[in-house]
Amino acid sequence: MRHPGSLLRELDLDKTRFLALVALAADLKRAKEAGVERKSLTDKNIALVFEKTSTRTRCAFEVAAHDQGAHVTYLDPAGTHMGRDESVPDTAKVLGRMFDGIEFRGFAQETVEQLADNAGVPVWNGLTDSWHPTQMLADVLTMTEHHPGPVERISVCFVGDGHNNVARSLLITGALLGMDVRIAAPRELRPPADVVATARELAKTSGARVLVTEDAEQGVDGVDFVYTDVWVSMGDSPEQWDVRVPLLTPYRVTEALMKATGKPDTKFLHCLPAIHDRTTVIGEHLHERYGLDGAEVTDEVFSSPRSIVFDQAENRLHTIKAVLVTGLAS
Ligand code: CP
Ligand code: NVA
Repeated sequence: MRHPGSLLRELDLDKTRFLALVALAADLKRAKEAGVERKSLTDKNIALVFEKTSTRTRCAFEVAAHDQGAHVTYLDPAGTHMGRDESVPDTAKVLGRMFDGIEFRGFAQETVEQLADNAGVPVWNGLTDSWHPTQMLADVLTMTEHHPGPVERISVCFVGDGHNNVARSLLITGALLGMDVRIAAPRELRPPADVVATARELAKTSGARVLVTEDAEQGVDGVDFVYTDVWVSMGDSPEQWDVRVPLLTPYRVTEALMKATGKPDTKFLHCLPAIHDRTTVIGEHLHERYGLDGAEVTDEVFSSPRSIVFDQAENRLHTIKAVLVTGLAS
């Protein structure tokens, strides 16, 4: 039996519960800023299991837990028996006997589902190859902070690798909340057909407008937010760069693409980390091999006043705190 406080994908939530988490996150953010946050997780114990690396998600879980009085144990990408010499269900049962909640980041969605099926405590998906639900809560909080609302009036276009976890999650989130949600991606990197079908089905009741297009300029026309993500995700083969660079260069977020929105105040979103210049190992490699200066977004856009990526990053903390507080109270 899965604990009702779990969050494995956006579809675990309906619109009311999704927006309640965002509203709680906004309250928690205000309370922290005002220095009046009350601890509601005193002496709870939370396991953080990472098969893949992380900066924001790990730090958000750790700081959120600490702010609320809970303790965390971090299990690094190579630091457990899980999957190697101990099954995922056995690991889940052990962790469930010791911890009040478990965060998992990794490859297969099936792993986080097996953890939730066997742990008996809330399990939270901190990113899999399929979904990134805690990211979506932060993104919706960020969009509502930069848009007068209501949420149904928000339009957002994801441009780039439309097949990846973040694009899928955004498509489902927009469809669930009744937004104008668009994916602009090459045919080879469209979201999976079943995800698009689910989004279209959700749109029938939520009133969402769902567009999947190969035309980046059509995708961004009139939108409030342009969103992109890395061209090669964690878990993808590095050889994919040779395929993705030619395929995705027309989908790079440049000043010209931002102008194609037709709006002077469209904001730029990115879940981060981003390749926007040559200052990283991968950025330098992409320059040497392909002559690129940055990949999915130019530094001009990334570093412009339209870019609200660090608001997004900060909001990972407040929204993950809302997930912990709600999940451990249920
Ligand atoms: N956006 C995000 O999940 O970042 P990390 O990989 O640093 O956790
Ligand atoms: N699509 C990216 C998101 C990172 C937060 C990845 O999975 O690597």
